[in-house]
Amino acid sequence: MKILVKLGGTLLDTPDSRARLAGEIAALAAAGHQVVVVHGGGKQMTRFLAERKVESRFVNGLRVTSPEVVDALLKVLGGTVNHELVAAFVQAGARPVGLSGLDAGTAVAEQLNPELGAVGRPTGSDGRLMSLLAANGYLPVVACIGGDANGAIYNVNADQMAVACAGGFGADALFFLTDVDGVRIADGSTAAALTPGAIAGLIAAGVATGGMQAKLEAATRALESGVGRVIVAPGQLPGLVGRLAAGERVGTLITAEGAHA
Ligand SMILES: Nc1ncnc2c1ncn2[C@@H]1O[C@H](COP(=O)(O)OP(=O)(O)OP(=O)(O)O)[C@@H](O)[C@H]1O
Ligand SMILES: [Mg+2]
Repeated sequence: MKILVKLGGTLLDTPDSRARLAGEIAALAAAGHQVVVVHGGGKQMTRFLAERKVESRFVNGLRVTSPEVVDALLKVLGGTVNHELVAAFVQAGARPVGLSGLDAGTAVAEQLNPELGAVGRPTGSDGRLMSLLAANGYLPVVACIGGDANGAIYNVNADQMAVACAGGFGADALFFLTDVDGVRIADGSTAAALTPGAIAGLIAAGVATGGMQAKLEAATRALESGVGRVIVAPGQLPGLVGRLAAGERVGTLITAEGAHA
């Protein structure tokens, strides 16, 4: 099976969490699955920018991206966060290759809205590099930085990046591993399954906000682009990755309207 695993930044913040997730994902690759990892690092970015007295401003969960933020993106997301994760995969016995969307058209983007600065909307993904690597036993680890044919560099929301890469790679399943149990609904519980219609309702009602709003919008697009199985699940739960790969239901399954949940 071709699996795209998106790791949220909080999960990558401590060596223990990185090591555990890297071990679980490396085991998938060792079992013969073709795996691509896309990672975020929103919290690491906010921390780095705060140290430099740059305030982070968000619109609908997307970070307004000035040239200073692009610089931080390359240093933090493409630098420290990506390499620390690659090192964890090395330790787990995998053959990781750290990349960003800039490499070989892995994530092509365009400016979303001039008011957001260099926030990129993914417009496509050339999946050949990811496929070449994954088919030969390597594990692509992709930082959420996009580019275009003119050499522009864009800050791409990691969830949107994961969806674009899942399309380019031809993933059968997309697992969004995050720092909550799944998607919380109005009564405070975690939804077992959601359709795009229910998602639109949660966003309109202000129940799904910020990063979760961005994630759910991206998840809806993943269904549209033909990814068979899209799940939002708690990355802090030991054994989660193997359970998801085995088809177990953990977290929130995002399914098309009328699909069998
Ligand atoms: N309805 C909701 N259910 C669950 N979490 C929600 C909801 N609404 C908002 N959130 C927030 O969304 C957060 C998850 O999105 P966030 O963007 O922070 O994480 P991520 O996408 O996993 O990581 P990164 O952005 O670093 O890739 C949760 O920690 C929670 O605070
Ligand atoms: Mg996020």
